[in-house]
Amino acid sequence: MTNKFARANMDFLNGRRLRRSRQFGWSRDLVRENTIQPSDLIWPLFVIEGTNERDPVKSMPGVDRLSIDLAVEAAKEAHGLGIPALALFPNTPADCRSDMGEESFNPDNLMCRALSAIKSAVPEIGLIADVALDPYTSHGHDGLMDGEQILNDETVDVLIKQSLNQVRAGADIIAPSDMMDGRIGAIREGLDAEGFQNTILLSYSAKYASAFYGPFRDAVGSGSRLKGDKKTYQLEPYNREEAMREVEQDILEAADWIMVKPGMPYLDIVREIKTRFEVPVFAYQVSGEYAQIVFAGQAGAIDQQAAMVESLVAFKRAGCSGVLTYFAKEMAQLLND
Ligand code: PBG
Repeated sequence: MTNKFARANMDFLNGRRLRRSRQFGWSRDLVRENTIQPSDLIWPLFVIEGTNERDPVKSMPGVDRLSIDLAVEAAKEAHGLGIPALALFPNTPADCRSDMGEESFNPDNLMCRALSAIKSAVPEIGLIADVALDPYTSHGHDGLMDGEQILNDETVDVLIKQSLNQVRAGADIIAPSDMMDGRIGAIREGLDAEGFQNTILLSYSAKYASAFYGPFRDAVGSGSRLKGDKKTYQLEPYNREEAMREVEQDILEAADWIMVKPGMPYLDIVREIKTRFEVPVFAYQVSGEYAQIVFAGQAGAIDQQAAMVESLVAFKRAGCSGVLTYFAKEMAQLLND
């Protein structure tokens, strides 16, 4: 009965069979709709003080915090593998953190020394500097606080100083991840006024208040300090339209590229931004997403390498120009083999 029905249906479709294209490796290769290359990958690096120091992040097996000299070596390796850019995150020593996060605009801070060391050793690689105060504040928030409140405009003034500080040290791309209102326009103006018209602004426009940031906060040492949550500035996971308003606002304020964060749980947001605004969109496969794949792999529940490839291909399919991923080196090595 069902067979007869299926056959009748197939006659109607004039012999269409979608599995024909999938029969052979070569035919699947021919009809493949998306590709992934090392040039799609951005590698985040955690930087610490010291020399020849490599400090594993327990919640992210395979990821180490690196002293600047080892970060320079990693940058050379990344360049050799065809990775176009790095995103640096400092683990600021405890005694340099403060309520006001003044260390963020110290020209000799860990971040700036890392930026200039890598820039002079590997000038061909793009350097992305995150803008937000959480690596520098004693309370672990991205902005300045007044009691329980995160101050918006006062924070933006400091973010401008942080941006200029990082650009002067060698950052090519400024990536504000703080989610304060009006920061993109204010940072653009601040950079332009100092002659940095060509610095690219990669805005974390759609950054969600997510449980998937846990391991990152361990890595930069902000997790144990954090009081409360970030829900008054980061987006609610329930919302899509609000993300579109954030993106529109940032484009109006002259953002060059848009970032969505986290990545995999928000591919619908990536696709919609791409369709609506036709700008370069990036996604951050965040620490918790990395940890999920690695720990599930270690437990024998999934094939780690296959899951890595599948997850990264999904970003390309959704419309991403590139992906920030802790798998960047491993993936690039695989693609180079
Ligand atoms: C905050 C910031 C976060 C990440 C990068 N910069 C998240 C947060 O603490 O709110 C997370 C990245 C990751 O989880 O890999 N400025």
